[in-house]
Amino acid sequence: MADIELKVTEVRDLTPNIKMFELVAAQGGDLPAFEAGAHIDIRMANGLTRSYSLSNDPTERHRYVTAILKDMKGQGGSKWMHENVKPGDVLWATEPLQNFPLNEGATKSLLLAGGIGITPILAMGYRLRATGAPMHLYYCTRSPEDTAFMDEVKQVFGADVTFTHDGGDPSKGLKLTEVFKDYEPGTHLYVCGPGGLLRAVRDAIAHWPEDAVHFELFSSSRTDEQAAEIASRENQPFEVELARSGVTLTIPPDRSILDVLIEEGFGVPYACEEGWCGACMIPLLGGKADHRDEVLTDGEKQANEKIQVCVSRAMPGEKLVLDM
Ligand code: FES
Repeated sequence: MADIELKVTEVRDLTPNIKMFELVAAQGGDLPAFEAGAHIDIRMANGLTRSYSLSNDPTERHRYVTAILKDMKGQGGSKWMHENVKPGDVLWATEPLQNFPLNEGATKSLLLAGGIGITPILAMGYRLRATGAPMHLYYCTRSPEDTAFMDEVKQVFGADVTFTHDGGDPSKGLKLTEVFKDYEPGTHLYVCGPGGLLRAVRDAIAHWPEDAVHFELFSSSRTDEQAAEIASRENQPFEVELARSGVTLTIPPDRSILDVLIEEGFGVPYACEEGWCGACMIPLLGGKADHRDEVLTDGEKQANEKIQVCVSRAMPGEKLVLDM
């Protein structure tokens, strides 16, 4: 999939730390269509590529809208966007990618957004409103001033939204165990927000069926201990066969499959390189993988039919066969 050239038409402060960016096709005309929940990976002049969810109505073809939180602890992607990008600039990005689709067969859709996590959830609201499907949004932020897209959210969700402001103290936030106490068959829950919220939700919905809950990560939700455990695992070299091109590659202990694919000239989309954004997923045809990502569910890891090549490796003695 070739990258697309986008022109910035508007940059606006939504909150003290969140800016909205409106992008159109640099050469004019329609943009590639997107579904609710999709994101684009923006290539930045500082060499970083970062994923940003689209928030606008998916029926719009003339623009993409995204919102970006300035993350001072990050590697500089959001800081670069905040400090450098202005109307009239041209950016390169992937076509819309989808890791967070709506299940349109749901009898009811519950949406939970924490802070900047509202971006894909807002697009989902547009889609659900258009289909007339029952929905309810729980939108959690620190304060009304920190609530991006407040008016648009009210317009899209009408009475089907609950705002919660915790003033920076998660114990004063939404009572997740109460809100998600009962699971009604046919309900699907979509969650997008920071790692702490996602971990709390995972605990609160442990009794829900795994395939009824969908998470979109904006950064790793692992605790420091979990990250340290994975980093401490001893890596072995292993082979990867590319079924369609007939090439076999050796992955050394200190390199990822993604590193070697890129070095060998195979184009693979990627963004976070840490196993949480979903960009680098490749269908897996053979071999048992050591799945180290946060994108696939436990069930998907068990099924072993796809792999995030930026972090996952082969189980000892296994050779992986990729569909590429
Ligand atoms: S690049 Fe983000 S999961 Fe692999």
